[in-house]
Amino acid sequence: MAESVLEVSGLVKHYPLTRGVVFRKQVGAVRAVDGVDFRLGRGETLGIVGESGCGKSTVARMLVNLERPTAGSIRYKGEDITRLSGRALKAVRRNIQMVFQDPYTSLNPRMTVGDIVGEPYDIHPEAAPKGDRRRRVRELLDVVGLNPEHINRYPHQFSGGQRQRIGIARGLALRPEVIVADEPVSALDVSVQAQVVNLMGRLQSEFGLAYVFIAHDLSIVRHISDRVGVMYLGRIVETGTDTEIYEHPTHPYTQALLSAVPVPDPEAREHRERIILSGDVPSPTDVPSGCRFRTRCWKARERCAREVPALAVPAGFGATGGPAAHDSACHFAAERAVVPAAVEGHGDGPG
Ligand SMILES: Nc1ncnc2c1ncn2[C@@H]1O[C@H](COP(=O)(O)OP(=O)(O)OP(=O)(O)O)[C@@H](O)[C@H]1O
Ligand SMILES: [Mg+2]
Repeated sequence: MAESVLEVSGLVKHYPLTRGVVFRKQVGAVRAVDGVDFRLGRGETLGIVGESGCGKSTVARMLVNLERPTAGSIRYKGEDITRLSGRALKAVRRNIQMVFQDPYTSLNPRMTVGDIVGEPYDIHPEAAPKGDRRRRVRELLDVVGLNPEHINRYPHQFSGGQRQRIGIARGLALRPEVIVADEPVSALDVSVQAQVVNLMGRLQSEFGLAYVFIAHDLSIVRHISDRVGVMYLGRIVETGTDTEIYEHPTHPYTQALLSAVPVPDPEAREHRERIILSGDVPSPTDVPSGCRFRTRCWKARERCAREVPALAVPAGFGATGGPAAHDSACHFAAERAVVPAAVEGHGDGPG
Protein backbone atom coordinates (compact mmCIF):
# COMPACT_ATOMS: atom_id res chain seq x y z
CA MET A 1 0.00 0.00 0.00
CA ALA A 2 1.13 3.54 -0.73
CA GLU A 3 2.51 5.78 2.01
CA SER A 4 -0.33 7.14 4.18
CA VAL A 5 -1.58 10.67 3.78
CA LEU A 6 -4.43 10.26 6.26
CA GLU A 7 -4.67 7.95 9.22
CA VAL A 8 -7.89 8.07 11.16
CA SER A 9 -8.12 6.27 14.43
CA GLY A 10 -10.89 5.93 17.01
CA LEU A 11 -12.77 8.85 15.49
CA VAL A 12 -15.89 9.78 17.46
CA LYS A 13 -18.45 12.55 17.19
CA HIS A 14 -21.26 12.66 19.73
CA TYR A 15 -23.75 15.51 19.68
CA PRO A 16 -25.35 16.25 23.03
CA LEU A 17 -29.07 15.62 23.14
CA THR A 18 -30.66 18.25 25.37
CA ARG A 19 -34.08 18.92 26.80
CA GLY A 20 -35.48 22.32 27.80
CA VAL A 21 -34.51 25.71 26.47
CA VAL A 22 -33.49 27.47 29.69
CA PHE A 23 -31.44 24.82 31.45
CA ARG A 24 -30.70 22.64 28.43
CA LYS A 25 -30.28 19.52 30.46
CA GLN A 26 -28.29 16.88 28.62
CA VAL A 27 -30.40 13.75 28.35
CA GLY A 28 -28.27 11.69 26.01
CA ALA A 29 -26.15 11.84 22.90
CA VAL A 30 -26.47 11.39 19.17
CA ARG A 31 -23.65 8.97 18.39
CA ALA A 32 -23.22 10.23 14.83
CA VAL A 33 -19.72 8.75 14.48
CA ASP A 34 -18.82 6.12 17.01
CA GLY A 35 -15.30 4.80 16.47
CA VAL A 36 -14.06 4.97 12.91
CA ASP A 37 -10.62 3.85 11.74
CA PHE A 38 -9.11 3.94 8.28
CA ARG A 39 -6.05 4.94 6.35
CA LEU A 40 -5.72 6.61 2.99
CA GLY A 41 -2.60 6.14 0.89
CA ARG A 42 -1.08 8.80 -1.33
CA GLY A 43 -2.96 9.00 -4.62
CA GLU A 44 -5.53 6.41 -3.50
CA THR A 45 -9.31 6.49 -3.33
CA LEU A 46 -11.19 5.23 -0.33
CA GLY A 47 -14.90 4.90 -0.98
CA ILE A 48 -17.15 5.28 2.07
CA VAL A 49 -20.62 3.90 1.63
CA GLY A 50 -23.68 3.69 3.83
CA GLU A 51 -27.32 4.57 4.26
CA SER A 52 -28.61 8.02 5.13
CA GLY A 53 -27.75 9.07 8.69
CA CYS A 54 -24.90 6.60 9.24
CA GLY A 55 -22.41 9.43 9.82
CA LYS A 56 -20.67 9.85 6.46
CA SER A 57 -20.94 13.65 6.29
CA THR A 58 -19.93 13.97 9.92
CA VAL A 59 -16.72 12.05 9.14
CA ALA A 60 -16.17 14.30 6.11
CA ARG A 61 -16.63 17.48 8.14
CA MET A 62 -14.15 16.31 10.74
CA LEU A 63 -11.56 15.45 8.07
CA VAL A 64 -11.63 19.01 6.73
CA ASN A 65 -11.88 20.49 10.21
CA LEU A 66 -15.35 21.97 9.88
CA GLU A 67 -16.10 20.03 13.03
CA ARG A 68 -14.02 18.96 16.03
CA PRO A 69 -14.08 15.28 16.98
CA THR A 70 -15.31 14.24 20.41
CA ALA A 71 -12.43 11.73 20.47
CA GLY A 72 -9.89 10.11 18.22
CA SER A 73 -7.17 11.33 15.91
CA ILE A 74 -6.79 12.35 12.28
CA ARG A 75 -3.18 12.20 11.19
CA TYR A 76 -2.12 13.99 8.05
CA LYS A 77 1.34 12.65 7.18
CA GLY A 78 1.81 11.62 10.76
CA GLU A 79 0.65 14.85 12.40
CA ASP A 80 -2.59 14.81 14.41
CA ILE A 81 -4.54 17.71 12.92
CA THR A 82 -7.19 17.57 15.64
CA ARG A 83 -4.58 19.01 18.03
CA LEU A 84 -3.49 21.87 15.80
CA SER A 85 -4.78 25.41 15.87
CA GLY A 86 -4.02 28.80 14.37
CA ARG A 87 -1.43 28.99 11.63
CA ALA A 88 -0.31 25.40 11.88
CA LEU A 89 -3.87 24.22 11.35
CA LYS A 90 -4.43 26.60 8.46
CA ALA A 91 -1.29 25.35 6.75
CA VAL A 92 -2.44 21.74 6.98
CA ARG A 93 -6.01 22.52 5.93
CA ARG A 94 -4.80 23.77 2.59
CA ASN A 95 -3.90 20.22 1.74
CA ILE A 96 -7.27 18.69 2.55
CA GLN A 97 -10.16 20.17 0.58
CA MET A 98 -13.82 19.30 0.35
CA VAL A 99 -16.22 18.94 -2.57
CA PHE A 100 -19.81 19.18 -1.40
CA GLN A 101 -22.84 17.14 -2.28
CA ASP A 102 -25.22 19.64 -3.73
CA PRO A 103 -23.86 21.99 -6.37
CA TYR A 104 -27.21 23.82 -6.34
CA THR A 105 -26.89 25.02 -2.76
CA SER A 106 -23.15 24.99 -2.11
CA LEU A 107 -22.30 27.72 -4.65
CA ASN A 108 -23.15 31.30 -3.71
CA PRO A 109 -25.62 32.47 -6.39
CA ARG A 110 -24.43 36.09 -6.10
CA MET A 111 -20.81 35.33 -6.84
CA THR A 112 -19.35 34.88 -10.30
CA VAL A 113 -17.66 31.63 -11.17
CA GLY A 114 -14.34 33.42 -11.10
CA ASP A 115 -14.94 34.62 -7.55
CA ILE A 116 -16.16 31.20 -6.41
CA VAL A 117 -13.21 29.29 -7.81
CA GLY A 118 -10.77 31.97 -6.62
CA GLU A 119 -12.25 32.22 -3.12
CA PRO A 120 -9.69 29.86 -1.55
CA TYR A 121 -7.04 32.43 -2.49
CA ASP A 122 -8.81 34.99 -0.29
CA ILE A 123 -8.51 32.62 2.64
CA HIS A 124 -4.93 31.62 1.73
CA PRO A 125 -3.45 34.73 0.07
CA GLU A 126 -0.01 33.16 0.32
CA ALA A 127 -1.06 30.53 -2.22
CA ALA A 128 -1.25 32.89 -5.20
CA PRO A 129 -0.05 36.46 -5.80
CA LYS A 130 -3.02 38.75 -6.34
CA GLY A 131 -2.10 39.62 -9.91
CA ASP A 132 -1.91 35.95 -10.84
CA ARG A 133 -5.28 34.75 -9.54
CA ARG A 134 -7.41 35.32 -12.59
CA ARG A 135 -5.00 33.44 -14.77
CA ARG A 136 -5.05 30.56 -12.30
CA VAL A 137 -8.84 30.51 -12.14
CA ARG A 138 -9.05 30.34 -15.93
CA GLU A 139 -6.63 27.45 -15.92
CA LEU A 140 -8.67 25.66 -13.24
CA LEU A 141 -11.85 26.08 -15.30
CA ASP A 142 -10.06 24.62 -18.28
CA VAL A 143 -8.76 21.68 -16.24
CA VAL A 144 -12.28 20.66 -15.17
CA GLY A 145 -13.64 20.97 -18.70
CA LEU A 146 -15.36 24.36 -18.45
CA ASN A 147 -14.90 27.24 -20.83
CA PRO A 148 -12.50 29.78 -19.25
CA GLU A 149 -14.42 32.48 -21.14
CA HIS A 150 -17.34 31.86 -18.77
CA ILE A 151 -15.41 33.18 -15.79
CA ASN A 152 -17.84 36.09 -15.28
CA ARG A 153 -21.02 34.01 -15.37
CA TYR A 154 -23.14 33.10 -12.37
CA PRO A 155 -23.92 29.59 -11.08
CA HIS A 156 -27.52 29.62 -12.35
CA GLN A 157 -26.20 29.86 -15.90
CA PHE A 158 -24.74 26.36 -15.62
CA SER A 159 -26.20 22.86 -15.53
CA GLY A 160 -25.92 20.62 -12.47
CA GLY A 161 -22.93 18.73 -13.83
CA GLN A 162 -21.17 21.97 -14.78
CA ARG A 163 -21.82 23.38 -11.32
CA GLN A 164 -20.20 20.37 -9.75
CA ARG A 165 -17.22 21.00 -12.02
CA ILE A 166 -17.09 24.52 -10.56
CA GLY A 167 -17.09 23.00 -7.06
CA ILE A 168 -14.27 20.67 -8.07
CA ALA A 169 -12.25 23.55 -9.59
CA ARG A 170 -12.58 25.41 -6.30
CA GLY A 171 -11.47 22.29 -4.43
CA LEU A 172 -8.35 22.13 -6.61
CA ALA A 173 -7.38 25.81 -6.32
CA LEU A 174 -4.91 25.28 -3.49
CA ARG A 175 -3.41 22.15 -5.06
CA PRO A 176 -4.44 19.89 -2.17
CA GLU A 177 -3.21 16.37 -1.71
CA VAL A 178 -6.50 15.06 -0.38
CA ILE A 179 -10.02 15.75 -1.57
CA VAL A 180 -12.95 14.73 0.58
CA ALA A 181 -15.90 14.43 -1.76
CA ASP A 182 -19.19 14.08 0.13
CA GLU A 183 -21.62 12.47 -2.30
CA PRO A 184 -20.36 14.63 -5.16
CA VAL A 185 -22.72 13.11 -7.73
CA SER A 186 -25.81 12.21 -5.69
CA ALA A 187 -27.67 15.37 -6.64
CA LEU A 188 -26.95 14.95 -10.35
CA ASP A 189 -28.87 13.21 -13.11
CA VAL A 190 -27.75 9.64 -13.62
CA SER A 191 -26.58 10.53 -17.12
CA VAL A 192 -24.05 13.07 -15.84
CA GLN A 193 -22.94 11.17 -12.73
CA ALA A 194 -20.50 9.05 -14.73
CA GLN A 195 -19.03 12.13 -16.45
CA VAL A 196 -18.24 13.76 -13.13
CA VAL A 197 -16.83 10.53 -11.67
CA ASN A 198 -14.67 10.11 -14.79
CA LEU A 199 -13.45 13.69 -14.50
CA MET A 200 -12.48 13.06 -10.90
CA GLY A 201 -10.62 9.92 -11.94
CA ARG A 202 -8.69 11.84 -14.57
CA LEU A 203 -7.82 14.67 -12.18
CA GLN A 204 -6.63 12.12 -9.68
CA SER A 205 -4.06 10.61 -12.00
CA GLU A 206 -3.09 14.00 -13.38
CA PHE A 207 -2.47 15.63 -9.99
CA GLY A 208 -1.77 12.63 -7.75
CA LEU A 209 -4.79 13.34 -5.57
CA ALA A 210 -6.05 11.06 -2.82
CA TYR A 211 -9.81 10.89 -2.45
CA VAL A 212 -12.21 10.06 0.30
CA PHE A 213 -15.22 9.48 -1.90
CA ILE A 214 -18.52 9.25 -0.05
CA ALA A 215 -21.64 7.70 -1.56
CA HIS A 216 -24.95 6.13 -0.62
CA ASP A 217 -24.61 3.41 -3.09
CA LEU A 218 -21.94 0.77 -3.60
CA SER A 219 -22.30 0.91 -7.38
CA ILE A 220 -21.15 4.55 -7.61
CA VAL A 221 -17.82 4.09 -5.86
CA ARG A 222 -16.94 0.77 -7.43
CA HIS A 223 -14.84 1.95 -10.34
CA ILE A 224 -13.13 4.86 -8.68
CA SER A 225 -12.20 3.21 -5.36
CA ASP A 226 -9.04 1.30 -4.53
CA ARG A 227 -10.63 0.33 -1.24
CA VAL A 228 -14.12 0.63 0.16
CA GLY A 229 -15.37 1.05 3.73
CA VAL A 230 -19.00 0.20 4.48
CA MET A 231 -20.52 2.26 7.29
CA TYR A 232 -23.45 1.38 9.51
CA LEU A 233 -24.71 3.51 12.38
CA GLY A 234 -21.50 5.45 13.01
CA ARG A 235 -18.99 2.68 12.37
CA ILE A 236 -17.17 0.99 9.51
CA VAL A 237 -18.39 -2.61 9.48
CA GLU A 238 -16.36 -3.94 6.57
CA THR A 239 -13.43 -2.69 4.57
CA GLY A 240 -11.40 -4.11 1.73
CA THR A 241 -10.36 -3.81 -1.87
CA ASP A 242 -12.78 -3.65 -4.73
CA THR A 243 -12.69 -7.42 -5.27
CA GLU A 244 -12.91 -8.22 -1.58
CA ILE A 245 -15.98 -6.08 -1.02
CA TYR A 246 -17.88 -6.66 -4.27
CA GLU A 247 -17.03 -10.30 -4.98
CA HIS A 248 -16.46 -11.65 -1.47
CA PRO A 249 -18.40 -9.55 1.04
CA THR A 250 -18.40 -11.19 4.47
CA HIS A 251 -20.44 -8.78 6.57
CA PRO A 252 -24.18 -9.41 6.40
CA TYR A 253 -24.85 -5.70 5.98
CA THR A 254 -22.57 -5.42 2.94
CA GLN A 255 -24.19 -8.54 1.52
CA ALA A 256 -27.61 -6.93 1.91
CA LEU A 257 -26.47 -3.66 0.32
CA LEU A 258 -24.97 -5.51 -2.62
CA SER A 259 -28.07 -7.59 -3.13
CA ALA A 260 -29.95 -4.35 -3.75
CA VAL A 261 -27.58 -3.18 -6.52
CA PRO A 262 -29.11 -3.78 -9.95
CA VAL A 263 -27.38 -6.49 -11.97
CA PRO A 264 -27.47 -6.00 -15.75
CA ASP A 265 -26.77 -9.65 -16.60
CA PRO A 266 -30.10 -11.59 -16.50
CA GLU A 267 -28.41 -14.89 -15.73
CA ALA A 268 -26.48 -13.49 -12.80
CA ARG A 269 -29.68 -11.86 -11.66
CA GLU A 270 -31.47 -15.17 -11.65
CA HIS A 271 -28.88 -16.80 -9.44
CA ARG A 272 -28.76 -14.04 -6.97
CA GLU A 273 -30.59 -13.93 -3.70
CA ARG A 274 -32.13 -10.67 -2.75
CA ILE A 275 -31.70 -9.89 0.91
CA ILE A 276 -34.39 -7.78 2.44
CA LEU A 277 -33.42 -6.48 5.84
CA SER A 278 -36.04 -6.42 8.52
CA GLY A 279 -36.86 -3.23 10.41
CA ASP A 280 -35.29 0.21 10.26
CA VAL A 281 -31.86 1.52 11.15
CA PRO A 282 -31.90 2.11 14.93
CA SER A 283 -31.55 5.69 16.14
CA PRO A 284 -28.00 6.87 16.80
CA THR A 285 -29.27 8.04 20.21
CA ASP A 286 -30.06 4.45 21.10
CA VAL A 287 -27.42 2.17 19.63
CA PRO A 288 -27.92 -1.59 20.23
CA SER A 289 -25.49 -3.32 22.60
CA GLY A 290 -22.82 -5.59 21.15
CA CYS A 291 -23.01 -5.64 17.37
CA ARG A 292 -24.99 -2.62 16.26
CA PHE A 293 -26.28 -4.41 13.19
CA ARG A 294 -27.73 -7.37 15.11
CA THR A 295 -31.30 -6.02 15.28
CA ARG A 296 -31.56 -6.41 11.50
CA CYS A 297 -29.28 -9.37 10.96
CA TRP A 298 -30.37 -12.88 10.04
CA LYS A 299 -27.21 -14.35 11.55
CA ALA A 300 -27.62 -12.67 14.93
CA ARG A 301 -27.50 -14.77 18.08
CA GLU A 302 -26.80 -14.33 21.74
CA ARG A 303 -23.10 -13.50 21.43
CA CYS A 304 -23.90 -10.57 19.12
CA ALA A 305 -25.83 -8.76 21.87
CA ARG A 306 -22.97 -9.21 24.32
CA GLU A 307 -19.79 -8.58 22.39
CA VAL A 308 -18.84 -5.76 20.05
CA PRO A 309 -17.22 -7.38 17.00
CA ALA A 310 -13.83 -5.89 16.16
CA LEU A 311 -13.12 -4.70 12.62
CA ALA A 312 -10.50 -7.33 11.77
CA VAL A 313 -9.91 -10.39 9.62
CA PRO A 314 -12.40 -12.84 11.14
CA ALA A 315 -11.06 -15.99 12.76
CA GLY A 316 -11.51 -18.78 10.25
CA PHE A 317 -10.19 -16.75 7.32
CA GLY A 318 -6.76 -16.11 8.80
CA ALA A 319 -5.21 -19.41 7.78
CA THR A 320 -6.71 -19.70 4.32
CA GLY A 321 -6.16 -16.11 3.17
CA GLY A 322 -7.64 -15.21 -0.20
CA PRO A 323 -10.09 -12.44 -1.02
CA ALA A 324 -12.49 -13.42 1.77
CA ALA A 325 -9.81 -12.62 4.35
CA HIS A 326 -10.30 -8.91 4.88
CA ASP A 327 -11.55 -6.77 7.77
CA SER A 328 -15.13 -7.40 8.74
CA ALA A 329 -16.83 -6.56 12.04
CA CYS A 330 -18.92 -9.72 12.34
CA HIS A 331 -18.53 -12.59 14.80
CA PHE A 332 -19.83 -15.03 12.22
CA ALA A 333 -18.30 -13.62 9.04
CA ALA A 334 -16.51 -16.87 8.30
CA GLU A 335 -19.78 -18.77 8.28
CA ARG A 336 -21.45 -19.45 4.94
CA ALA A 337 -21.36 -16.22 2.96
CA VAL A 338 -24.67 -16.77 1.22
CA VAL A 339 -27.89 -15.96 2.85
CA PRO A 340 -30.40 -18.75 3.59
CA ALA A 341 -33.36 -18.80 1.20
CA ALA A 342 -35.68 -18.20 4.15
CA VAL A 343 -34.45 -14.63 4.34
CA GLU A 344 -36.09 -13.84 1.04
CA GLY A 345 -39.22 -11.85 1.78
CA HIS A 346 -38.51 -11.93 5.51
CA GLY A 347 -39.05 -8.62 7.20
CA ASP A 348 -41.61 -5.94 6.95
CA GLY A 349 -40.39 -3.34 4.55
CA PRO A 350 -38.00 -2.42 1.84
CA GLY A 351 -35.30 -2.33 4.59
N1 LIG B 1 -25.19 19.10 14.32
C1 LIG B 1 -25.85 17.98 14.65
N2 LIG B 1 -26.50 17.87 15.82
C2 LIG B 1 -27.16 16.73 16.17
N3 LIG B 1 -27.19 15.63 15.39
C3 LIG B 1 -26.54 15.67 14.21
C4 LIG B 1 -25.84 16.84 13.78
N4 LIG B 1 -25.32 16.58 12.55
C5 LIG B 1 -25.67 15.32 12.25
N5 LIG B 1 -26.42 14.78 13.24
C6 LIG B 1 -26.97 13.41 13.28
O1 LIG B 1 -25.88 12.52 13.13
C7 LIG B 1 -26.23 11.40 12.34
C8 LIG B 1 -25.27 11.27 11.16
O2 LIG B 1 -25.49 12.35 10.26
P1 LIG B 1 -24.67 12.53 8.90
O3 LIG B 1 -25.17 13.76 8.25
O4 LIG B 1 -23.22 12.44 9.19
O5 LIG B 1 -25.14 11.24 8.09
P2 LIG B 1 -24.90 10.89 6.55
O6 LIG B 1 -24.42 9.48 6.53
O7 LIG B 1 -24.07 11.92 5.89
O8 LIG B 1 -26.38 10.92 5.97
P3 LIG B 1 -26.88 11.32 4.47
O9 LIG B 1 -26.62 10.11 3.64
O10 LIG B 1 -28.34 11.56 4.66
O11 LIG B 1 -26.12 12.52 4.03
C9 LIG B 1 -27.68 11.62 11.93
O12 LIG B 1 -28.51 10.91 12.82
C10 LIG B 1 -27.88 13.10 12.10
O13 LIG B 1 -29.21 13.40 12.40
MG1 LIG C 1 -24.38 13.18 4.27
